[in-house]
Amino acid sequence: MKMAKLKHNNGYNFLAGAIFGLCFGFIISTWCRNKFIPCSPSFSKSGCCPRKLQPAFETDQQSITETNKVIPNNVYIEEEDEKGFLFVGIMTAKKYLDSRVVAAYKTWARSINGKVIFFSSEGSHSTHDIPIVSLKNVDDSYPPQKKSFSMLKYMSDHYLNKYEWFMRADDDVFIKGEILEQFLRSVNSSRPQFIGQAGVGTKEEIGLLSLGSTDNYCMGGTGMVFSRETLRLLAPHLKYCVNNLYTTHEDVEIGRCVRKFAGIPCTWSYEMQKLFYQNFKEYKGSFVDTLLDKEVQTAITMHPIKEPIYQFRINNHFSSTRIQQLRQKQLELHRAISEMNQVLNENSPFDKYGLKPSVNSFIPNKASEVIGWEFVNSKTVSSHLNVNPRKGLTSYRKDTMDDIVSETMDIINRNSRQRGRSIDFKEVLYGYSSIDPLNGPNYILDILLTYRKHKGKNVNVPVRRHAYLHQSFLKTQITESPLTSEPDDSNSQISPHIFRALRGPLQNTHLDKLHETIHFILPLAGKVREFERFMNIYEQICLSRKENAQMHIVLFTKNSSPEEVEEILNIAGKYQKKYRSDLIEVIEADGDFARARALDLGAKQCAMDDLLFCVDVDILLTREALTRIRLNTIQSTQIYYPIVFSQYDPSVICEGLCKIGMTNFTAKVGYWRQFGYGIAAMYRSDLEKVGGYDISIQGWGKEDVDLFEKFVMSNLTIFRAVDTGMIHAFHPVTCDINLEPSQFQMCVGSKATILASQYQLAEMVLGMKEVLNRNMDTKV
Ligand SMILES: *[C@@H]1O[C@H](CO)[C@@H](O)[C@H](O)[C@H]1NC(C)=O
Ligand SMILES: *[C@@H]1O[C@H](CO)[C@@H](O)[C@H](O)[C@H]1NC(C)=O
Ligand SMILES: *[C@@H]1O[C@H](CO)[C@@H](O)[C@H](O)[C@H]1NC(C)=O
Repeated sequence: MKMAKLKHNNGYNFLAGAIFGLCFGFIISTWCRNKFIPCSPSFSKSGCCPRKLQPAFETDQQSITETNKVIPNNVYIEEEDEKGFLFVGIMTAKKYLDSRVVAAYKTWARSINGKVIFFSSEGSHSTHDIPIVSLKNVDDSYPPQKKSFSMLKYMSDHYLNKYEWFMRADDDVFIKGEILEQFLRSVNSSRPQFIGQAGVGTKEEIGLLSLGSTDNYCMGGTGMVFSRETLRLLAPHLKYCVNNLYTTHEDVEIGRCVRKFAGIPCTWSYEMQKLFYQNFKEYKGSFVDTLLDKEVQTAITMHPIKEPIYQFRINNHFSSTRIQQLRQKQLELHRAISEMNQVLNENSPFDKYGLKPSVNSFIPNKASEVIGWEFVNSKTVSSHLNVNPRKGLTSYRKDTMDDIVSETMDIINRNSRQRGRSIDFKEVLYGYSSIDPLNGPNYILDILLTYRKHKGKNVNVPVRRHAYLHQSFLKTQITESPLTSEPDDSNSQISPHIFRALRGPLQNTHLDKLHETIHFILPLAGKVREFERFMNIYEQICLSRKENAQMHIVLFTKNSSPEEVEEILNIAGKYQKKYRSDLIEVIEADGDFARARALDLGAKQCAMDDLLFCVDVDILLTREALTRIRLNTIQSTQIYYPIVFSQYDPSVICEGLCKIGMTNFTAKVGYWRQFGYGIAAMYRSDLEKVGGYDISIQGWGKEDVDLFEKFVMSNLTIFRAVDTGMIHAFHPVTCDINLEPSQFQMCVGSKATILASQYQLAEMVLGMKEVLNRNMDTKV
């Protein structure tokens, strides 16, 4: 079975143009706020998007006018040239005016090309600026037959000649406005039409609904659509219908009325069940678990949304899909420009974003520039970039793969209906991925698919395909830093704020922030020599330079000998005497050493707005580290978790003969402590907000991971980055033989990891003849 060939390019099969919006850092916020208004040429006066919008949704200002028009006395004010595509009337009740109505109005209602008005009982008022009609002589009793027919009457009285289509919907539905419009434009609205999901009643109801054996009705929940012609035929008889009800089912009665006076049934089409989608899968509704299901993706209306908050979640989901489509379109336009430039053969500017997609567009000039590919399968990544050659797929990589596959499938199935076939995804057998730093990530995937033919004889076969995918970077987008100081680059072409942001963090920052006081919190028990070294560095980078810094030493006296305590106090006293004594404080703590309690005690000495730096006595600091602590920690927003460089044992590295400085960042000298969370900078208010350190944790370790996890769960951002200004100096580990066997094992293990690099240890072992090959001597 041969599958339709994919597009060719450079000898590769191409599923071109899955795109990927890499925002370097930030997205300009206004861009995110864009509403996606469908462009429909037939309603565009100038023939060019964006067209004039329906007033109710243009701005908040105008929707207020709209509200005033409808609510107070329920008097309709004629709008001169109001003409639109779709009028949606939503049936609601007083108790939902502040919940479902708001959620619907703020989400999908904006996607409707036309007007959305909510219909409620007499005396309904909204405290929000939402167009609500309170129907005279209608209450909120159930079943809402009267409400429904009154709404249809209102629609035909006021809007019949102004809109092409009319929809009756519930307040717990989600409607994809753009797709509904696309769909309706394929239907002739000059004919009577009654569109929705056809129902004949449940098993128990059959025979009780007074329906003929071939009669149906459009189900209310998922919404029903009338063409103008239908409503026109219906309008004079609405009164008759409401006075001649056979059942208490409002939708059944509308169906009966339409059949009788417009002479048509609800659309008898299997497809409508998919387009007007009723969620039977989730007991509680709201599309919590089924949002990514194929049926939900293809649906036009979704029902029910039981929890109004989920309207927003669903809306976000489809908006981001739309963003992706628009980005794709943007990319295609860039490509068109590029192509035209070539045809024109002018000296037109080169459009980098219009490059043809290719997994080979990066041209290396040197052997070292050749980009390597990582090998990926459904569970693991094997990479030359990791120290560990094979790793499990992280969740973000897995999500990326899922995204790529789903986009790929969309592209493959784009014309599947016309071709009478569809291709379903089975699995990714394996793949390669790489990042071209100029153009974007590339993928080569070996995918297992199932080919299904619908037309003619049913065919169903597995096929295997290679897909070559390229995601293009979009233009860099930046946001201005809120820390920007007064502009002074008046001769600059770009906004001085942006210019400054580009020059780097140091120049664009408010002066106060650069000189903010850092509160060092240093837990201590014994370790006099290390403390001496730490204070020596502290003097160089802070005290002698009059840096704004304050030292809080938390000393556990029980774990230190009296001599040690005395010596530590002497050292601290020496600096207190030499500099202002209030800059260094020693807090004596009782009980056994607990790092969590130490940091907690230290933090309690500070005010809520103070910037804390939790540090260890083994850390060597540079002055640059201070600047980074200040800039990377933002109150109520960001916590700074530096990744420090951990040095190996100097006596092993080079038998103590070499000098190891603060800038020796080689694999031989040390490693980045990816898994260390002990060193952190945060504001006290943020520490308190997440509940602070867990002071029930004894000894070293665990308290830091616990706090890190609390921050991860909070709405604060964690900025975790390598800091070349913080070094964890080697200190010998002694493992107490009296420890529990398991703890002893762990201690020996960590002792081994900080000894030297694996490579060097291996070299050492290789150098030991007696270890490597005991038989060597006898052989020689
Ligand atoms: C739509 O229906 C009307 C009335 O039946 C008919 O006159 C018209 O030709 C139809 N238009 C199209 C495009 O089929
Ligand atoms: C996090 O939530 C708090 C309220 O709980 C709010 O004051 C703060 O601004 C939020 N921070 C961010 C970065 O959204
Ligand atoms: C550390 O760096 C200095 C200067 O770059 C160099 O001379 C020295 O050999 C390095 N030490 C080690 C152990 O690599």
